[in-house]
This record gives sequence, C-alpha cells and structure tokens, in this order.
Amino acid sequence: MNIAIFGMQWGDEGKGKIVDYLSEKADIVTRFQGGNNAGHTVVVGDQTFKLHLIPSGVIYGKKLFIGNGVVIDPEDFIKEIDALNKRGIYPDLLISDRAHLTLSYHIALDSAFTIYQGKRAAGSTKRGIAPTYADKYARHGMRIADLIELHDNGELAEFVDKAISLKSKELKHVFGSEELLDKDALVLKLSSYVDFFKKHSTNITREIYNAIAAGKSILYEGAQGGLLDVDHGLYPYTTSSNTTVGGIFTGLGIGLRCKGVPTLDKVIGVVKAYTSRVGEGPVATELLNDVGNYIREKGHEYGTTTGRPRRIGWLDIVEVNNFVIVNGIDEIALTRLDILSGLKELKICVAYALADNLVRERLPTGSAMGRCKPLYETFAGWDIDISACRNFSELPSNAQKYVKRIEELTGVTVTMIGVGPERSQIIIRN
Ligand code: GDP
Ligand code: IMO
Ligand code: MG
Repeated sequence: MNIAIFGMQWGDEGKGKIVDYLSEKADIVTRFQGGNNAGHTVVVGDQTFKLHLIPSGVIYGKKLFIGNGVVIDPEDFIKEIDALNKRGIYPDLLISDRAHLTLSYHIALDSAFTIYQGKRAAGSTKRGIAPTYADKYARHGMRIADLIELHDNGELAEFVDKAISLKSKELKHVFGSEELLDKDALVLKLSSYVDFFKKHSTNITREIYNAIAAGKSILYEGAQGGLLDVDHGLYPYTTSSNTTVGGIFTGLGIGLRCKGVPTLDKVIGVVKAYTSRVGEGPVATELLNDVGNYIREKGHEYGTTTGRPRRIGWLDIVEVNNFVIVNGIDEIALTRLDILSGLKELKICVAYALADNLVRERLPTGSAMGRCKPLYETFAGWDIDISACRNFSELPSNAQKYVKRIEELTGVTVTMIGVGPERSQIIIRN
C-alpha cells in the first residue's frame, strides 16, 4: 500500500507523528518537496526527535529517499545526520542527484528579501528556501549532480565566482545589505561535501519505480501544509514548493503507475484540531485572546524550526475542504484533540462573509482573506483529560460530537485521532 500524508493547514499539523506511526508497516519513506524549513517531531518514549530533511521513517529504521523536488542545505543536512548518529541512529538514506542545493547566498538573500517585501512577506524560516527555488526556476541553481561535475572538472570556483558576483550585487544594490559573501569559503565547503554526495546520491526516480513495481510499500511524507502551497495556498503567504499531491509526481519523477502498479493508493490529510500558523499574513480564525494564549501554552505551540510563537485560531473548515479537493483526501488524521480539553466552548469556521458574499467553496486570495469574517458553529467542550484514551468510545461525548461534525463538514472519515505527542497516543478507527 502506497500512502501520501499531507498537512491540510499551515504546517505543523503533526505529520511527523503520523508518518512515524505508519512507517512501521512501510518499506520506504520519502520526501518530495520543501527543505529544512520543515520541522517534523517524532516522540518515542522519552525521546524526542526534530527532523528537518530526514524523512520521519528514520526512527523505525526504514529505507529513506529524498527526491529531486526537495532543496538541500548541505551543511544543515550533514549536521542533522551527525546529530542522529550521535543518538545511535544511522539513516539508510539515498538522495536524488537532481535535488537543488541551498547555498550561503540563498540564506543571505532570504533575510534581505523578507525585509524588502514588508507586509507581503510570508515571514520565512530564513533557511534560504525561496531564493533556492527561485534559482532553480531561473535556471542558475546548483544540483547535487552539478556540484559533483563542476568539482571533478575543476570548474567549481568559476561557477561560485559568477554566482557570488551576481548575488553580492543584488544584496548590496537592490536590498542595501552590507553582508559580504565569501567565495573561497563557499568553494571549500562545497568541495568538502562532494564525497558525501557521491556516496549518497543517485537516480531516485529509478529507485522508486523499481521499488513500487516490486510491490514495496511507500510513504510519501509531505512537508508544510496546503495553505503554504505556492499554487494552491494563500499566496503570497506561502512557501515556494507544491505542498499538495502534485508535488509527489514532479518531486520524485514518477507517474501514476510503475509497471502497472499504482503509485498512490491512499491520501491522508493531517488536520490539527484547531489552527496554528507560524509566519505572517491573515489567519481568518485567529484568536488574539485568552483562549488563543491558553491553547498556545498548553500545546507548547512554538515553531519546531525557528522557535517562533505560533498564532492560534479555531479550526477552519473552508481551508481544510479546499485541500480535501486539491489533494483528493481519502482519510483524515485529526491531531492534538487533547489540547482542546478544558475549554468550555469550541468553534469551527464553516464559511466566511466577504462583503455581501458567503465564501465556502474556494480559498480567497491573500488580500481578500484579510477582509473575510469567519462564520462559526459552536460546540460544547469537555473537561476530561483524553490523553490516555485509545478507543473512540472512551472519548467524552462532546469530543465525539466534535470529531463527527468534522467528518460531516468535510465528507471524509477521521481514521486516526491524536491524543498526545507520543507514538502510542493515538486512536485508530477502522
Ligand atoms: P509537523 O511539522 O506537521 O510534523 O508538526 P510539528 O512536529 O512541527 O508540530 C506538531 C507538534 O505536535 C509536535 O510537537 C508533536 O510532537 C506534537 N503532536 C503531534 N500529534 C499530537 C497530538 O495528537 N497531541 C499532542 N498533544 N501533541 C501532538
Ligand atoms: P512543517 O513541514 C509551518 C512557513 C514560514 C513562512 C512561509 C514561508 O514543519 O509543517 P519559507 O521558509 O518556506 O520560505 O517560509 O512558510 N513555513 C512553515 N510553517 N511549518 C512548516 O513546515 C513550514 N515551512 C515553512 O513560517 O510563513
Ligand atoms: Mg513542523
């Protein structure tokens, strides 16, 4: 069975936990988009792992693939692997040699551009993601295969020299940044990664194709969430990759079938029981009050990658439904229901009022979203701590009602319910 897992909101829905849980029965776990802007948490017993580029199947020791659609900051990537090695975990990892590299100048430009963009900035993770994808599409990026070739042909210094000359001008004369880019240091660093990439990079398209044709089970691990999709999200407050289902096919270089075997059998949408957002731009259901503060503190809602406080809001079904369609969702994994325990009243946004219109069917544009007024259904809360529940029937009846209403509003069955961060804190409904 080949399963895709997607965030259905603003990222940080708990994809890492769900991927880890499903990894037990998978052969291969693969990332296909995004970069180290992702922060996926897996909690096993008293051990917490915060993964950025390494797929969340690593704790179960599964085979891991990283596709061409992912962007890789080599320095951070090698650090992440080293940190896992120190904990006795040795990722069984292959990377596409067509994946693009995030270099020092991408990171410098990310910060400078964020300041320049002002109120239209998404509030990036400053990991150089947008400048790396921009170079990819402008066709002057550096892929792993290019690094190896440039290095082996003695042309690396020339490439870096040209790139740094352009990026320095952009930084200084467009953005007014005084940051100096060190060409020699970058050449030296890049050269030091060549052996690592020669060992770990390959043709991932062929690897996946053969694996699927041979009947292996694949988990496709989405990063970020639907609203951050550069095509289908709340542009421009998005990231720079396709965080929805199409990303799988371009980001791995596979089609619908491999020698007649379907590439994708099931699509699971991970939905947080409320909304959280780390970054800028409108959040229709944002709670700038005690309820928002309560959820943030109880749920330790601070960014996994940057540590920034996450903005909190009620669950927004208009947004979720948008990504039910875009991703073709078969099942929902509802996470963090436990965090809502103790609230007297809960709300779900079921439509927006925008001027004289009622919006339900389609995500508004980024600027129209700022003018949308959320329309809510209200639910009675529950007091009991539900973190030890393992069956749906053990949940308080108001929690059951909340879940069932989400199923009605989305038309999708909630098959998994997260009741705590630990691997075993999950209710499976069959
Ligand atoms: P991801 O980026 O989607 O993988 O999510 P993050 O790891 O950035 O953030 C989700 C946070 O919620 C992490 O700290 C997880 O350990 C935690 N988590 C996941 N599922 C649950 C759940 O059902 N309940 C609680 N309390 N925490 C959860
Ligand atoms: P995971 O995989 C939450 C947000 C940033 C910013 C916007 C663009 O852990 O769910 P970028 O650095 O990509 O250019 O930033 O996207 N963002 C995330 N928010 N979870 C993530 O990943 C995110 N990755 C990017 O905060 O608003
Ligand atoms: Mg995260």
